[in-house]
Amino acid sequence: MPPLNDPRSSSASPAAAGAAPLRVALVGYGYWGPNLLRNYMELPEAQVAWVCDRRPEALAKAQANYPAIAATTDLEVVLSDASVDAVLVATPISTHHSIAKAALEAGKHVFIEKPMTANTAQACELVELAAERGLTLMVGHTFVFSPPVRKVKEIIAAGDLGDIYFVTTQRVNLGLHQKDVSVVWDLAPHDLSILYYWLDEAPTSVNVTGRGCIVPSIPDVAFVNLRFPSGVVAEVQVSWLSPVKLRRTIVVGSRKMLIYDDTENVEKVKVFDHGVDFQEPADFGEFQLSYRTGDIVAPKVSSTEPLWLEAEHFVHCVRSGETPLTDGWAGLQVVASLEAAQASLDSGGVETKLLPIETGA
Ligand SMILES: NC(=O)c1ccc[n+]([C@@H]2O[C@H](COP(=O)([O-])OP(=O)(O)OC[C@H]3O[C@@H](n4cnc5c(N)ncnc54)[C@H](O)[C@@H]3O)[C@@H](O)[C@H]2O)c1
Repeated sequence: MPPLNDPRSSSASPAAAGAAPLRVALVGYGYWGPNLLRNYMELPEAQVAWVCDRRPEALAKAQANYPAIAATTDLEVVLSDASVDAVLVATPISTHHSIAKAALEAGKHVFIEKPMTANTAQACELVELAAERGLTLMVGHTFVFSPPVRKVKEIIAAGDLGDIYFVTTQRVNLGLHQKDVSVVWDLAPHDLSILYYWLDEAPTSVNVTGRGCIVPSIPDVAFVNLRFPSGVVAEVQVSWLSPVKLRRTIVVGSRKMLIYDDTENVEKVKVFDHGVDFQEPADFGEFQLSYRTGDIVAPKVSSTEPLWLEAEHFVHCVRSGETPLTDGWAGLQVVASLEAAQASLDSGGVETKLLPIETGA
């Protein structure tokens, strides 16, 4: 199919004051692509050069929303357009590697939706390729750009919680059953990327119990247990089957504890000055525990849309050459954890070790 509307033949809109806007092409306009497009259309530092999707009906939808937008079903048209600086990949996971690889080989910077790839080897290849070519590679770990998640990071980094003991998190609702991947690959990337960001470390082992309740071959509920080098343990519950939507995380530290509830309208983060102090016995008597229940504080959290912050960050990193917060390396760590989680799920819950990853990058 020929391009529906070729931007190279039209006069480009004048650049904003200063640098010319970054010209991006979006590949994949299904469920999530429209959210990326909306934000990039509104971002003054970016200009959407193309929308590409295999399905003409998806392109027709994009053009109904943005009549002037250039659209094509052919990725080659996008990649051979020298005026395109960067490609945003929002297609199904199984296609991420081939599209991102082709884009990097064509000299384009790449933003790729979570999870970065379908396996670790593919992720390593993209990290190496981007480094070789000096191109920006960023992964759509959207929650890392979410103001409450940022706030929790600040609280942890400031030492307010003390040493982190454990994290439990629930991400369940009556969700859309995916046809090609388990709930682990669909939902756990969010929690794994948040944990990697908060704790500054990747897990060393994972074991998963799960079940395919509706489609037996595709697990729709899973309990993912993780161990980290610092001693932190975490449990991530994910499911597409739940009567209510829960997006709740509890972080327990040696000094304080907190709840991050993304379904709350205002008080998304609450810090509890609660804890239990252990007192060594003075003689051979029993140890003493003292329980503390102090103030509960809900810090102010900005309500800026995470996707907007994510888009701004991508454009900034391409322009400045800075390493993105959610770079290919972060994407690779999450994919490695997912792969190990899937191996554990497939083996009925056997603990799977994660070895440190090395790339040539
Ligand atoms: N960051 C987030 O919070 C978030 C939320 C939802 C989905 N996602 C991610 O976004 C990605 C897309 O998910 P979705 O739910 O939108 O999927 P989807 O199946 O609804 O849409 C994918 C689109 O890609 C198109 N497509 C497939 N192969 C293509 C190809 N080779 N070239 C061009 N177009 C192609 C399909 O026609 C479809 O329109 C996934 O990686 C998913 O994990 C991220």
